[in-house]
Amino acid sequence: MTEVEKTLLAISEFFDNLKVGYTGHSGYRKTTDLYVLAEACKELIERDLINPNRTVFLDLGAGDGRVNLFMSYLVRYSIGIELEEFIFEEYFIRRNELEKYLIDKNLIPLPENIFILNGNSLSPQTHEELFRKTALTLKEVDIFYTYITLHDAFADLIYKEGKEGALYMVYGFNSVLPRYEGFRLIEANLGLKGLIALYRKEAS
Ligand SMILES: C[S@@+](CC[C@H](N)C(=O)[O-])C[C@H]1O[C@@H](n2cnc3c(N)ncnc32)[C@H](O)[C@@H]1O
Repeated sequence: MTEVEKTLLAISEFFDNLKVGYTGHSGYRKTTDLYVLAEACKELIERDLINPNRTVFLDLGAGDGRVNLFMSYLVRYSIGIELEEFIFEEYFIRRNELEKYLIDKNLIPLPENIFILNGNSLSPQTHEELFRKTALTLKEVDIFYTYITLHDAFADLIYKEGKEGALYMVYGFNSVLPRYEGFRLIEANLGLKGLIALYRKEAS
């Protein structure tokens, strides 16, 4: 196992103890199982769809930023946008705890390529803030991500603002997959865990 793989496994373990929304009515706060995401990423790497030197990744509903913390080792920029301020603030708490956890285990520290913003992913003001903080626009995003949240509204946003060829990873489907206007489904079961679908934006 490489050092990066060991670090990603440790991050998956760390967040496995911090699952949110699996019981009760707080479904909107469900959190990605990072073991499942790891399998999907293996496939993205094998297919050369993700690259630490060039890929720009954006989680459109970032929650506590766990997907961004995980993805930061595999991409050039790992960006997240979170609507709720109280959830956005959890990111800094989790990040501090995770940093200590990685140091204790003598693993690779977190890269400096993570940007988490507090805002509405659908709002032009948030896109302007994204540009102010990262000098990146939605046109430069290679992979968009959502855990089901607003998946159809986010598809519309990517259709209007994303570049041709941009990938859209949607976590959380288990049987019937939606079609989005302007997208082609390129993988119905990314990582073979029955949870992640991958779409590609076609020419407008
Ligand atoms: C299901 S959680 C997923 C969190 C994280 N991506 C994960 O997979 O662990 C969805 C998050 O999206 C946020 N959200 C909902 N609508 C949003 C919007 N328009 N812009 C940004 N974040 C939004 C919610 O507050 C919630 O924290």
